[in-house]
Amino acid sequence: MKLIVAIGILFLCSCTYNKEELLYNNTCDTSNVKYSVQVTNTLNANCISCHAGATASGGIMLDDYTSVRAAAISGRLLGAISHAPGYRGMPDLAPKLPECRIAEIRTWMRNGMLNN
Ligand code: HEC
Repeated sequence: MKLIVAIGILFLCSCTYNKEELLYNNTCDTSNVKYSVQVTNTLNANCISCHAGATASGGIMLDDYTSVRAAAISGRLLGAISHAPGYRGMPDLAPKLPECRIAEIRTWMRNGMLNN
């Protein structure tokens, strides 16, 4: 019994450690986030297949700056990609974006959603 508990604790510790490493390691650099680089790269690769032009899902277009900014201001962009309660998690029918991609978009928003 003691052994099982010990193994359980070890297992829990290693999970926590891995998670922290994923969240806080230095591979996520948000010091130079630009709309034209990180934001469009992420949206083009994961979102515009469903969110572009006249047939955009939910009328949400993510293929031009003005529309992306509007989605960001409404809170829906970050709500959807961070799988916040009350939002439909995006990308639809696919795994959540890596934390660093979400962090980049959050940083772009915090920096004033520039068209840079
Ligand atoms: C496979 C198609 C598909 C992909 C890929 C996709 N979406 Fe969606 N998205 C949808 C559908 C369908 C809805 C629901 C539309 C509706 O409400 O009618 C939606 C809704 C949304 C909403 C509104 C969510 C809410 O609850 O208010 C946002 C914001 C959004 N998507 C952003 C994104 C972003 C950002 C990505 C890329 C990371 C993405 N979507 C990728 C299909 C997709």
